[in-house]
Amino acid sequence: MLSYRHGFHAGNPADVFKHTVLVALVQAMQHKDKGIRFIDTHAGPALYDLESEAALKNREFERGIGRLWAESPASGPRAEYQALVAAHNPDAALRFYPGSPLLLRSLLRPQDDLVLCELHPTEQKALAGRFGRDRQVSLHADDGYEALDRFLPPPTGRGLVLIDPSFEIRTEIADLTAALQQALGRFGHGVYAIWYPVIDGRDTTPDRMPAVLGLHGEQWLDLRVEFPADQRLGRMSGCGMAIVNCPFRARQVLTEMHAQWG
Ligand SMILES: C[S@@+](CC[C@H](N)C(=O)[O-])C[C@H]1O[C@@H](n2cnc3c(N)ncnc32)[C@H](O)[C@@H]1O
Repeated sequence: MLSYRHGFHAGNPADVFKHTVLVALVQAMQHKDKGIRFIDTHAGPALYDLESEAALKNREFERGIGRLWAESPASGPRAEYQALVAAHNPDAALRFYPGSPLLLRSLLRPQDDLVLCELHPTEQKALAGRFGRDRQVSLHADDGYEALDRFLPPPTGRGLVLIDPSFEIRTEIADLTAALQQALGRFGHGVYAIWYPVIDGRDTTPDRMPAVLGLHGEQWLDLRVEFPADQRLGRMSGCGMAIVNCPFRARQVLTEMHAQWG
């Protein structure tokens, strides 16, 4: 039984980084008209109330979206992300935080579609309430790794897979590696974005994440950030996104954004 609930962490510095990268990646890919299939293998419940008991327990959002919200408008990819968060807070005060399914949904064009997988029954219910009647979104109460086989390759030949596990089970890295390698076998030129935590200055693994995932050379872009001391989340001192087959346009935007992060 899964015990992790993202509601305790929504909007924290790791989410802000992950979601800013995600938005920039999607927008760079959408420069071409052809439809894109987006797959979120670990979706979570999509929208978080920052006044809920869970969010207020450790108030992690204050170190992440709370800080960004208080700053003057950002530029570049951060501005796009800020605008999407603002769209879910019409009263101008920060109360709700959109997770990856909602950010992706907000960015869908008519020719795109979105596949969401989630294993936790409570989160599945939240997703069904929000997207159950949405014809561009398909919901799957399944293991996200297994679902990749069914949804790849996308019909248009273009796709982005977000893999955002909670890293709560011992075999996570092995499962993730096997699923990624299998997915690459089915859809070798797909774009895959994998979030991972950095613990006490080290990956969850002894080596850099892309190497652990069996990736080599130019095919991936590894972006990682160290949080400033006052934004650290317990032992989580930073996080990263390993992006496989990062499109050229996105690579430029993301590399620039990463250099200015902080
Ligand atoms: C880190 S949270 C996802 C947050 C979300 N992607 C976001 O950015 O807003 C991870 C989610 O994956 C779910 N989960 C864990 N293992 C899973 C699996 N093998 N397949 C699908 N969902 C899983 C958990 O229940 C949890 O809701």
